[in-house]
Amino acid sequence: VAPVSVATLAAMKARGERIVSLTCYDACFAQLLDRAGVDVLLVGDSLGMVLQGHATTVPVTVAQMAYHAAAVARGRERALLVVDLPFMAAATPERALDQAAQLMQEGGAQVVKLEGGAWLADTVQRLTEQGVPVCAHLGLLPQSVNRLGGYRFQGRDETSAERIRREAQLMEEAGASLLVLECVPAALAAEISQALQIPVIGIGAGAGCDGQVLVLHDMLGLNPGRPPRFSRDFMAAGRSAIGEAIAAYVTAVREGSFPAAAETPY
Ligand code: KIV
Ligand code: NA
Repeated sequence: VAPVSVATLAAMKARGERIVSLTCYDACFAQLLDRAGVDVLLVGDSLGMVLQGHATTVPVTVAQMAYHAAAVARGRERALLVVDLPFMAAATPERALDQAAQLMQEGGAQVVKLEGGAWLADTVQRLTEQGVPVCAHLGLLPQSVNRLGGYRFQGRDETSAERIRREAQLMEEAGASLLVLECVPAALAAEISQALQIPVIGIGAGAGCDGQVLVLHDMLGLNPGRPPRFSRDFMAAGRSAIGEAIAAYVTAVREGSFPAAAETPY
């Protein structure tokens, strides 16, 4: 099977085929998700919360991201490997170039994802010029939780919505290949997905995006606390094996039945 590239994802968007993504942190799950047809494996800095037990993603380091990325890289064959630049790793363009190099050379990252808006446009351009495909990330920015004061939906008032719209355009103009929109109203996410040429992958952003991503442990019902309102437990409904749950997620995203209205808070 042909490996997925950013060009594959762009072609899927052009054909109206939905992109399926999940977070992944190790080789075992990489193999399972890859074989189930998941298009994009995201080594998210959510691993700081899900695997390490931190309250936020802020403590995660580039070395830790590279370690997990390398494990995922050994398990994947077809899926595209996207890896997060963690907290402060893109504080300056120079630092971002160094840290992205580490994620690609040690971690096997094929795309590097960074959280944030207009202030990152120069960094996105520099990375792109150097041959690093970039995934931008707008809406809820978990690395900024200490400034935001909590994990809340973004873009619910017109000022905030307009800023996200403008920054999405800016990221595309700067050369980003993908955009993740986290926790924004479905109407806004659908509008941005239509306005941009690049694929938009949503989480908590409604069914109108070009693709969907969830945190693996959330969709497997392994979250011991209250699961996010926008997620779904794919192990429920009588599924007794993880493989069945993953297959059900792939089907639900491809056919557009996930997220449903009940999983779209705004
Ligand atoms: O770290 C992560 O898991 C992410 C996704 C939720 C998009 O950034
Ligand atoms: Na992340």
